[in-house]
Amino acid sequence: MTERIRLGVNIDHVATIRNARGGAHPDIARAAEIATKAGADGITFHLREDRRHIMDPDLEAIRAATHLPLNMEMAATDEMHVIAMNYKPETAMFVPEKREERTTEGGLNAAREHNRLAPMIRALKENGSRVSLFIEPDPVQLIAAQRMGADITEFHTGRFVELCLAGESELAEVELQRIADCAKRAVEVGIEPQAGHGLTYDTVKPIAAIPELTELNIGHFLIGEAIFAGLDPAIRRMRELMDEARA
Ligand code: PXP
Repeated sequence: MTERIRLGVNIDHVATIRNARGGAHPDIARAAEIATKAGADGITFHLREDRRHIMDPDLEAIRAATHLPLNMEMAATDEMHVIAMNYKPETAMFVPEKREERTTEGGLNAAREHNRLAPMIRALKENGSRVSLFIEPDPVQLIAAQRMGADITEFHTGRFVELCLAGESELAEVELQRIADCAKRAVEVGIEPQAGHGLTYDTVKPIAAIPELTELNIGHFLIGEAIFAGLDPAIRRMRELMDEARA
């Protein structure tokens, strides 16, 4: 279990703080630059329909600020599809999106959304992006993702984190096993398994220790820690914990 696991740093909430006042501070491009120097393996951002954090001009600013692969999270809408086709992110990740939610609450219902997603996935892949689907650690969703040609599935770790924080260690163990089983199954069916959502210093290690996972996407906690420690040290600490989990 020694292979390194990649860290995708989600910088959405740098833009959340910026947008609280308008203007340009804190600068999203600077966040991408710092994350790059601190050892991130990719930069992730979610262009939401309501533009509550990342906004359209940020896309080019992020691209110019880093050489790292970009992971653009987006809803499966015609508008986002056109933007992603023009932007050509290294990875286009479909996530469910509801206006009233504070964050991405659950995984995609890939099984139910086949007809809408499959043509978009095909077009994005032909256009040079890899395509990821954000799903619950559920074998039904995994197989649905495989049928529609996804390259990657990111398994939602939110429930695992919530159970850990609530002290529900037995239930957390069950959820961890579900994620581990799905990661293994993903490799068997030819999909690259990744994971993310809600991860913190205290919860990242068991997830990072799942040997099949290739990448974790982490945002809110890192940006929160950056207020106290700085973005560079926060990312480096997360990196260290992920490496320890694989040691
Ligand atoms: N993965 C996906 C698909 C997400 O939507 C998010 C949140 O934007 C994350 C990972 C990162 O979650 P968090 O910000 O809680 O670390």
